[in-house]
Amino acid sequence: MAYTVPKLTDYSAAALEKKASQLLSALKDESTAVKTESDYEAFRVRWAGRKDSVRTQVNELWLKAAPKEAKRAAGQLVNEVILPGIDGELRDRHDHINNLAVLKKARAEGIDAEIDAARRALELSDSVDITLPGIRRPIGAEHPIIKTRNEIVSVFERLGYSVAEGPVVETDYYNFEALNFPPNHPARDTQDTLFIAGQQSKPQRERLLLRTHTSPVQIRTMEKMRPPIRIVIPGKVHRNDPPDASHSPMFHQIEGLAVDTNITFGDLKGTLDHAMKALFGSNVKTHFRPSFFPFTEPSAELYVTCFICGGSGKRGPDPCRPCKQTGWIEVLGCGMVDPNVFEFVKDNGYDPKQVSGFAFGMGVDRLALLKYGVDDIQLFFQGDVRFLQQFG
Ligand code: DAH
Repeated sequence: MAYTVPKLTDYSAAALEKKASQLLSALKDESTAVKTESDYEAFRVRWAGRKDSVRTQVNELWLKAAPKEAKRAAGQLVNEVILPGIDGELRDRHDHINNLAVLKKARAEGIDAEIDAARRALELSDSVDITLPGIRRPIGAEHPIIKTRNEIVSVFERLGYSVAEGPVVETDYYNFEALNFPPNHPARDTQDTLFIAGQQSKPQRERLLLRTHTSPVQIRTMEKMRPPIRIVIPGKVHRNDPPDASHSPMFHQIEGLAVDTNITFGDLKGTLDHAMKALFGSNVKTHFRPSFFPFTEPSAELYVTCFICGGSGKRGPDPCRPCKQTGWIEVLGCGMVDPNVFEFVKDNGYDPKQVSGFAFGMGVDRLALLKYGVDDIQLFFQGDVRFLQQFG
């Protein structure tokens, strides 16, 4: 039976409280049945309309009709409990049916993320509907680049390396000069650099740029820590390369540096051979080819047997694309730290007559592409959850 506002005869505190709670529970019951905008309109008119609503009746029957000595108590109850209770319920219910409408629309459009958001809003606006199925809160997946980075870093951590980091906005000094790229030297052209504008008034070595590699952190770390050191340096780097399937103006590298007394090229080879086997499987073979980097001497590029075709250059009858049919994949640059580099940090214990070291640097994104067989590097940075979820 629909609720009607009773006349009051007993104005004691206990009686008032009882009548108020009957009214509010009727309000709540009727509210639960309101599902559409037109239900809501009827509900609003019945409870708070200007004429003959519950609100006007309460005023008439409970307030105006109250004997003088009970006016105060009745007034307090009506103004502080009943009227705010009705207004609050109307507001909450209106929010709720709005949320229901949003959910309906999201379902019609079939967009998962929006359905979930609408479900969450609805759950907050109606905490009592236990008949709804549970809300799916998707568990995020580690980004494939972060995952690859962490795997590489942990291989070196197990060898006793620690992790160092440095700034992405770097000075000319750390990015080039202290790595033995003299000012105006053509070796700088190999790294198409993004410079920060408006730096012309500064001396060249102080001018800012987006670091083109993680190698500057070699210098920054050697300035802070005395030898012996063994560090890996993961981080973002930038180059002025137009984006395509294998290039991105922003990408990730991991740098390595080991300095001690009597470090040899044999240590470099052993360390990297071990690391490649740990990363790509113990069947992988490594192969060093001479190369050039200003900050290492001698320098090399490291190749591993293609882990797609196993080194054959073929996939069944077809040519293997990732290794361009050579059976080998280039994974990093490396070499023995050039004595000229040590000269820049000599005062912190790096006298090239006393210490030697090796360094290496690899592209994380490229390794992630190969590892997961992804054919377009742009996919890593577009943030499409359908792509990213596959790595969960
Ligand atoms: N910094 C080089 C680049 O980005 C990669 C590199 C080569 C790093 C040799 C090294 C190294 O530490 O020894 O092309």
